[in-house]
Amino acid sequence: MKILILHSDVPADAGEDELDCLTQAATIGEAISTLGHQPATLPFGMDLRANISGIREHQPDIVFNLVETLAGKGSLNHFATALLDFLHLPYTGCRTDAMFITSNKPLAKKMLRQAGIATPAWLTLEGETEDLSREDAYFLKPCREDASVGLDDRAVLQTRNPQTIRDALRERQEALGLDCFAEAYIDGREFNIALLASDQGVRVLPPAEILFVDYPPDKLKVLDYRAKWVEDSFEYEHTVRSLSIAPQDESLADRLREIALRCWHLFGLRGYARVDFRVDGQGVPWVLEINANPCLSPDAGFAAALDFAGLEYTAAIDAILQDALKP
Ligand SMILES: Nc1ncnc2c1ncn2[C@@H]1O[C@H](COP(=O)(O)OP(=O)(O)O)[C@@H](O)[C@H]1O
Ligand SMILES: [Mg+2]
Repeated sequence: MKILILHSDVPADAGEDELDCLTQAATIGEAISTLGHQPATLPFGMDLRANISGIREHQPDIVFNLVETLAGKGSLNHFATALLDFLHLPYTGCRTDAMFITSNKPLAKKMLRQAGIATPAWLTLEGETEDLSREDAYFLKPCREDASVGLDDRAVLQTRNPQTIRDALRERQEALGLDCFAEAYIDGREFNIALLASDQGVRVLPPAEILFVDYPPDKLKVLDYRAKWVEDSFEYEHTVRSLSIAPQDESLADRLREIALRCWHLFGLRGYARVDFRVDGQGVPWVLEINANPCLSPDAGFAAALDFAGLEYTAAIDAILQDALKP
């Protein structure tokens, strides 16, 4: 089969978070060749007509969708799937509605809350959703960006006063040039669960815990931009992924798997996905966000979970391609 790997049109001077898309394209291209298919790559940019003619020229049997940003904005990633829908081409990963909803964190949280899945209390500038008086600290996050864009030590606010939070939100929005919301800060452990489509339905991969090793007591334990992308930073070097679950955490792991699976069905996810959690001091898991089409780089969490589960990376790419052909 001809597989067109469609990826974000990333300028050479883009940040590591965006450039990573090219690493994924190269690794997936190799896997596609190993599977006996013909890979080709194409950047997806702002010119709709150029995208359409570029895609048509390749006459792909399947498009492997790695478009994470458009014009540098994660908030526009659903443009690629919308165009592929328009062209009636089979493509990997999540469909347009799931891309749109999960990329809008407050909207996804609203759906989680309605489905009875715990997600931390939040506040947007348009209106708060619940009583904030129970929480001591708030985390200010962009509504529609991924990859910890805009997250650093200044993102947390020690207050429970809605007016103070709103003022800080306005300031943060202006500084970042991005819409932001405030979310109750969950001071606890961090886990994520990867999910992969298969012939027998979705497969829930082993939970991964992110350990914050030797973090000074006054330092915020969060996977911020530096922890994810700045290789020689303290944060990058002191955040470690652990896939071995201690016996006393088995029931927590089961609970995380069950919630991740509910998220898969609630958001109509396809192909592959990852759910990020924080677990509070009482052992309650809170869903932070749903990642439709998470990073498939060889050094990222998804590949690590595959490896721990004893699944070959190439077999996972095959499963994702097979899923693209399902109605
Ligand atoms: N409400 C929260 N409480 C505690 N930590 C948080 C919270 N929200 C985000 N974080 C931290 O910030 C990281 C990135 O946030 P997340 O919502 O997953 O956005 P992104 O799309 O940037 O990955 C998380 O992995 C976690 O370490
Ligand atoms: Mg995340």
